[in-house]
Amino acid sequence: MQPRKIIIDTDPGQDDAVAILLALASPDEIDLLGITCVAGNVPLALTARNARMICELAGRPDIAVFAGCDRPLGRALVTAEHVHGKTGLDGPTLPEPQMPLQPQHAVDFIIDTVRANPPGTITLCPLGPLTNIATALARAPDIAARLQEIVLMGGAYFEVGNITPAAEFNIYVDPQAAKAVFAAGVPLVVMPLDVTHKALVTAERNAAFRNLGTPVGIAVAQMTEFFERYDREKYGSLGAPLHDPCVTAYLLAPHLFSGRHVNVEIETMSELTMGMTVADWWRVTDRPANAMFMGQIDAQGFFDLLTQRLARL
Ligand code: RIB
Ligand code: CA
Repeated sequence: MQPRKIIIDTDPGQDDAVAILLALASPDEIDLLGITCVAGNVPLALTARNARMICELAGRPDIAVFAGCDRPLGRALVTAEHVHGKTGLDGPTLPEPQMPLQPQHAVDFIIDTVRANPPGTITLCPLGPLTNIATALARAPDIAARLQEIVLMGGAYFEVGNITPAAEFNIYVDPQAAKAVFAAGVPLVVMPLDVTHKALVTAERNAAFRNLGTPVGIAVAQMTEFFERYDREKYGSLGAPLHDPCVTAYLLAPHLFSGRHVNVEIETMSELTMGMTVADWWRVTDRPANAMFMGQIDAQGFFDLLTQRLARL
């Protein structure tokens, strides 16, 4: 079976880093065509720096990394240094990147890549605010029908918000972009907090990363030890929630997840609920289903897969 061609759109972020490493550790299933960076957890200059550091950590300075949008479509940028540290990748001490950024804008790379490949063969994997994705769809509406799927981390329903009482960070930062993406008609798979808050790096799981004894295993242990503080303090969690790696794991082992194909709309009118993902989980409206909204994960199966794959790097 041919590996699945994907573009990861990301705002690294320790959990983004693990998602990228999992993809790079899985070349038989995933052909990572490029990494497009967006402002989110930290400003664009840092997300573009961090993405390259992660590629070099994995021994993959050949991966094409692109800088994209440096602010949301219609709102001021909100960042998350309180969760991810001032660099966005606090925890391990990694060398500054030596590999260059690509000169092309990330949005143009997305558009050109989708147009240059046969219809239905490119999957976008957004792990941060959806600014790059929405900009590409607005600039080139033809790509919507050409995309195989968009598999994204974002939103929440039963779990409610992590940045406001109503909204999850990725959607909240750029709700206008999210509204456009959820309305674009592209097949969507959504990994919300309802799932990612069940993928916790317990002490045992963190030890399994560290016991790999490799630079990647040790760095991942250090990353998750750093960014678990926020969730431990806020939720009393047993460890860091591995939000973004759920996207990569879905591509590798979709059986680890379950959910419902329902309608999901994005709140963009009220500041009180700005960025809320209103999922019609109980199908009480006649709004058409537009997203596979995940609710459950086989957490141990996820961590077994993740740890086995990270051992390859
Ligand atoms: O709310 C969690 C999401 O926001 C994750 O993608 C994390 O990296 C941050 O971008
Ligand atoms: Ca992210």
